[in-house]
Amino acid sequence: MRSLLFLAAAVAVTAEYVPGRAFDRFFTIWLENQDFSAVDKNSDIAGLAKEGILLTEYYGLTHPSQPNYIASVGGDYFGLNNDGFVRIPQNVSTLVDLFDSKNIEWRGYFEGIPGPGFMGEGSTAFDGSGWDYVRKHNPFVSYDSVNLNGTRLANLLSFSDFASDVKANTLPQYAHLSPDMLNDGHNTSLQYAANWTQSFLTPLLANEQFMNRTLILLTYDESATYPIPNHIVSLLLGGAVPSNKKGTTDDTMYTHYSILSTLENNWELPNLGRYDVGANVFQVVADQTGYTNHAPSDAAAVNNSLSYAGYLNNDPTKYLPIPAPNLKLVGAGGQGVDSSVQTYWNSAENQLTPYDGSGMLYDGGNGTSDPNAPVYKAQAPGPNITSTASGSSATKSSAAARTLVLETRLDGLGMLLGTALIALLVL
Ligand SMILES: *[C@@H]1O[C@H](CO)[C@@H](O)[C@H](O)[C@H]1NC(C)=O
Ligand SMILES: *[C@@H]1O[C@H](CO)[C@@H](O)[C@H](O)[C@H]1NC(C)=O
Ligand SMILES: *[C@@H]1O[C@H](CO)[C@@H](O)[C@H](O)[C@H]1NC(C)=O
Ligand SMILES: *[C@@H]1O[C@H](CO)[C@@H](O)[C@H](O)[C@H]1NC(C)=O
Ligand SMILES: *[C@@H]1O[C@H](CO)[C@@H](O)[C@H](O)[C@H]1NC(C)=O
Ligand SMILES: *[C@@H]1O[C@H](CO)[C@@H](O)[C@H](O)[C@H]1NC(C)=O
Ligand SMILES: *[C@@H]1O[C@H](CO)[C@@H](O)[C@H](O)[C@H]1NC(C)=O
Ligand SMILES: *[C@@H]1O[C@H](CO)[C@@H](O)[C@H](O)[C@H]1NC(C)=O
Repeated sequence: MRSLLFLAAAVAVTAEYVPGRAFDRFFTIWLENQDFSAVDKNSDIAGLAKEGILLTEYYGLTHPSQPNYIASVGGDYFGLNNDGFVRIPQNVSTLVDLFDSKNIEWRGYFEGIPGPGFMGEGSTAFDGSGWDYVRKHNPFVSYDSVNLNGTRLANLLSFSDFASDVKANTLPQYAHLSPDMLNDGHNTSLQYAANWTQSFLTPLLANEQFMNRTLILLTYDESATYPIPNHIVSLLLGGAVPSNKKGTTDDTMYTHYSILSTLENNWELPNLGRYDVGANVFQVVADQTGYTNHAPSDAAAVNNSLSYAGYLNNDPTKYLPIPAPNLKLVGAGGQGVDSSVQTYWNSAENQLTPYDGSGMLYDGGNGTSDPNAPVYKAQAPGPNITSTASGSSATKSSAAARTLVLETRLDGLGMLLGTALIALLVL
């Protein structure tokens, strides 16, 4: 009887709050179009870097903005090479499906969005000066698996919703934040956006409740200078950054796919069977989960200036269908491909796929020749790089400690419920 009650209580608790291995909440804030070399010299950004970890080898995936946003939740940009209005078919799953597998609450907050789930291309600024919110900076809304689903659309909210969620302590466990076209630096300047960011983050970094087991990724979507490699500044901040890591740098190579892979690793989520698998996990997280980062070791080969061919490329000679995911991959969460992906793509298990779990980066070359184009191969397990065996003793003991705390709390709850039930039985 007591164990049954214990189970019921455990289910109720995990449904509202899912503990992660290195953090319990992840917020990513995206600024626009700046080169690493310029941002690195900005005093506001340097001030923030003292509070966190500067990622020195983080790359945008291509140009312009939109494909970078889209890739960060779907594990590919599907050849997209423009900022136009696009839709991605319903059989392409996203981070939202991965979160659903564990009931992890997520939201997107977009400054200037006129209302929840707004699907238009942009909205006019309150002073009539131009477009404020833009669809191209919203990573979710172009996926039909999101925009045909009212429940999911209702999670696309505004910055005032963010402010009230901070105040009421009702933030979800993951959120993507896009400031408007002025505050993100798109229509303004590096200095303007850096000052905005500093003003936005300072009170949050001082908010104990907000910081508690929270990891923040401040990033840029892409670099400003097209012909040079797409090297951008990213910072990790928040209470999940250990104090001895504050003010340090991390030279591991990352891209926007590292967001997916880090989230999968932290919450032991399934994967999308796309470029999420094999992308390096933020080292501060990998250190705690025992995950081993790997390729690509040669940062010099990375360019990411042009998009490869694909479904969303607006050059008709570069059209390709949506590639089949690789259903045999195991991701950084130690899990296979998500069940939603399996359902849609089982019939395509014999199709070739460009996703091999190797962590290799692909791009569109220099426009005339493309030595880095994706290579299609038979679906097969990736290299054995996703093992979380090494270093797992630390993880296990801290997990055990957390479980213990939870059990102690639940034990009390179980006894309470037990008493209530006995009282009912007596009646
Ligand atoms: C920002 O610039 C874009 C052109 O890139 C323009 O369409 C938009 O109206 C501008 N928005 C604001 C708020 O100035
Ligand atoms: C709509 O979204 C909700 C929440 O993510 C999910 O539970 C549900 O299965 C989705 N419905 C369809 C038809 O995909
Ligand atoms: C920095 O941002 C704050 C808050 O938005 C604003 O009051 C201040 O004028 C800005 N400073 C500069 C130099 O732009
Ligand atoms: C931090 O969050 C944990 C749950 O992850 C909770 O037990 C603890 O009380 C929180 N601490 C503060 C200071 O809010
Ligand atoms: C996925 O959807 C696209 C667009 O509707 C369709 O062309 C393709 O055949 C679908 N793939 C599978 C495996 O169902
Ligand atoms: C990167 O790609 C751009 C755009 O095609 C090209 O101009 C540039 O030469 C490439 N840079 C390197 C280092 O390969
Ligand atoms: C692209 O690269 C190829 C092979 O490296 C070279 O022959 C060609 O001139 C380059 N084209 C441009 C536009 O840089
Ligand atoms: C993968 O690595 C794990 C842990 O290092 C090991 O136990 C396992 O046998 C490896 N699997 C293969 C197929 O090599």
